[in-house]
Amino acid sequence: MTLLTIDAITVNYGRLIALRNASLTLSQGETLFITGPNGAGKSTLLKAIAGVVVPKAGTIRFAGLEIGGWAPEDIARRGFSMVPEGRHVFGSLTIEENLRLGVGMRVDKDAAERDLEHIYSVFPMLEERRHQAAGVLSGGQQQMLVIGRALMANPQLIAIDEPSLGLAPKVIDDVYAVLLKLRDTRGLTLLIVEQSSARATMTGGRMLLLRGGEIVLEGDARELTRSDALKAAYFGYGEQH
Ligand SMILES: Nc1ncnc2c1ncn2[C@@H]1O[C@H](COP(=O)(O)OP(=O)(O)OP(=O)(O)O)[C@@H](O)[C@H]1O
Ligand SMILES: [Mg+2]
Repeated sequence: MTLLTIDAITVNYGRLIALRNASLTLSQGETLFITGPNGAGKSTLLKAIAGVVVPKAGTIRFAGLEIGGWAPEDIARRGFSMVPEGRHVFGSLTIEENLRLGVGMRVDKDAAERDLEHIYSVFPMLEERRHQAAGVLSGGQQQMLVIGRALMANPQLIAIDEPSLGLAPKVIDDVYAVLLKLRDTRGLTLLIVEQSSARATMTGGRMLLLRGGEIVLEGDARELTRSDALKAAYFGYGEQH
């Protein structure tokens, strides 16, 4: 089943074109990595789906509805959770209070309680420290917390902007183990921005390369990284400047 269809969206910040004519589709339970250099438009793509920025052209369909122009909270309610760049925790609230914020407008509070238990079971560190202020957590622990909070909304699609940034390899392994388990057991769809292709190669799935606001390459993550196509496209080799 197709969960997300982005058709020819263009996003501008003033005169700067951050995303130009970008299209992609994502099926339920699929994993799509988005990679590309700094300033390529990766975060902008996630923000456009989340409704944080509004494309000036093109359409976005999510879970069967056209969501262009919807408020971010309405898109979230349809089953989209985003973990933006920069790990925004509420430092003076406890870990558990931060997690409960993720429940948002969910109606089924019993299911939310079960999900809290589930998140504690996959990130035991969060349970051990649930009454501590979130501000004292290390960077990696805060990353687990924001991912846990995004999962508390029980999304169909989770989009995570650079989950590996600044994390120890063991912590990255833990975070990916959780995400892949949810994908395989609940059909969670993953849209992940990563600068490096290492995780995409390990995890598999599809990969899409953005450069200068345009999708310049798309394909099977392992095949792309095995060939030289990814490196060439990343740096723009063989093009006229
Ligand atoms: N709010 C904004 N106002 C003006 N320009 C912006 C804004 N947000 C992003 N941009 C510009 O849009 C372009 C794309 O930015 P974006 O954050 O999407 O890139 P990115 O691929 O996520 O980069 P990075 O890897 O550094 O996170 C960049 O040139 C950036 O400077
Ligand atoms: Mg970014």
